[in-house]
Amino acid sequence: MKFFADTAEIKEIAELAEMGLLDGVTTNPSLIAKSGRDFKEVVAEICQLVEGPVSAEVIALDCAGMLAQAKDLTAIADNVAIKVPLTWEGLKACRALSDQGTMVNVTLCFNANQALLAAKAGAAFISPFIGRLDDMGIDGMEVIEEIRAIYDNYGFTTEILAASIRSANHVKFAAMAGADVATVPPSVLQGLVKHPLTDKGLEGFMADWKKTGQSL
Ligand code: G3P
Repeated sequence: MKFFADTAEIKEIAELAEMGLLDGVTTNPSLIAKSGRDFKEVVAEICQLVEGPVSAEVIALDCAGMLAQAKDLTAIADNVAIKVPLTWEGLKACRALSDQGTMVNVTLCFNANQALLAAKAGAAFISPFIGRLDDMGIDGMEVIEEIRAIYDNYGFTTEILAASIRSANHVKFAAMAGADVATVPPSVLQGLVKHPLTDKGLEGFMADWKKTGQSL
């Protein structure tokens, strides 16, 4: 499974990239607002840190506007993927952009039929929002399973990018359901390392090492 960082915070991205953990980055208007920084500047900096796809989201709601904004954003770096919303206009923009060789991440996906449309429109990535479905009492993971089955039935190459990931369990179950990518907030990614027995075991080893009186 590939890991993308779902953040616009450069410091967090730099640390993960240095560890070789990052296969890409996703941003959205909310994350850019949270960073308090200039959108294009942030995207340019991220693209210098990460070789994989860096999703930058258009703000226009009509296809022509999306394409104009996409032109600006793709000029930033070769690894910019354009994020478009899962609307009729977004699908038109997806087709036009993917026809011209631009990676498109279709975002705000909440069911399998939407994902089918995005794949037909040539999306490189489809982003089902797991956490937001769970928030509504709908099992987000079931949607991942359905999309996986449909894409496999017809050989679609669109990658399933599990998004709105809120917990370590989300990562695990998305991986089990066959998501190609999980885009994860860095705090959740760091949480994957945690296990109380690891901490306890380390404590024991440290205490025993002290008893040896040796140093390294
Ligand atoms: O990748 C989409 C993600 O940023 C949305 O997450 O937690 O706002 O639902 P959330």
